[in-house]
Amino acid sequence: MTNKYAFFEGRIVPIDEAKVSIMTHAFNYGTGCFEGIRAYWNETEEQLYVLKLREHYQRFLRSSHIILISLPYTVDQLYNITLELLRKEGFRQDTYIRPLAYKADSGVGVRLHDLEDQFALFAIPFGKYLEKEDGAKAGVSSWRRINDNAVPARAKITGAYINSALIKTEAVMKGFDEAIVLTQEGHVSEGSAENLFIVRDGKLITPPVTEDILEGITRSSLMELAAKELGIETVERPIDRTELYVAEEAFFCGTGVQIAAITEIDHRPVGKGQIGPIVRQLRDLYFSVARGQRKDYLDWVTPVYATVPAI
Ligand SMILES: Cc1ncc(COP(=O)(O)O)c(C=O)c1O
Repeated sequence: MTNKYAFFEGRIVPIDEAKVSIMTHAFNYGTGCFEGIRAYWNETEEQLYVLKLREHYQRFLRSSHIILISLPYTVDQLYNITLELLRKEGFRQDTYIRPLAYKADSGVGVRLHDLEDQFALFAIPFGKYLEKEDGAKAGVSSWRRINDNAVPARAKITGAYINSALIKTEAVMKGFDEAIVLTQEGHVSEGSAENLFIVRDGKLITPPVTEDILEGITRSSLMELAAKELGIETVERPIDRTELYVAEEAFFCGTGVQIAAITEIDHRPVGKGQIGPIVRQLRDLYFSVARGQRKDYLDWVTPVYATVPAI
């Protein structure tokens, strides 16, 4: 099953009608921003649950604000458009949702001002992002992370993903599954398209939001789950490269990657060289919440299809 529709220029249209010109500003200069949202199919309830839908649109509007895109929609309106599109698609499987805000004018001239802004949205069935979720091999990239004073990583800007693409492809070409990228100053920032945590002395550590990371929604969700459900606090502090080598556990997290254990970094085993207990517990928790199986976390998910009221 694939997707049949998109939201484009103000309405839901057949996917073949959602096309832009090669002269589009965003296509030429990367002047757009986007989101990646997941919806999880719950087979028992025959329900599709969208994870943290509101939070993603809040970040989307923050990204838009940074690059001077002004959309005629509120978070609530974007939320409703998304549910409408998903219902029309009728997906009964895990789904990835991609909203885009972009500079839509045709023509030449690099700038952000005096340009038309547009919004588009599509959703596709989607499974794993990283094949080896149980034991990814990572290498520290020779590329550096984009800097807030050049290209802000805090905003999910389309053009900025050339940095992620360079990082990812170098890693794969070198035989790794993923990369870990350092800031200009040499601290650990994140993965190519995911945030990163390590475990030292039983505590979770992750780089703070001032280390040129995307302020990940999975990252903050996991910090909350770890504290509430496992009693493990997360320390947000700069991480040195060699702390990666001596960590007990390490993992990537993000909407795409979900939670992937890192079992080797720069050819050194992490901990015992296999998925560790904290990563495993967090991953189990995360998926049960995402699929709407944890009734105490139903406010994290939005059901797409009408629910039959209990009698
Ligand atoms: C560069 C980068 N870092 C981190 C993440 C994780 O963010 P989130 O958990 O909000 O999906 C993503 C995207 O998913 C990303 O592209």
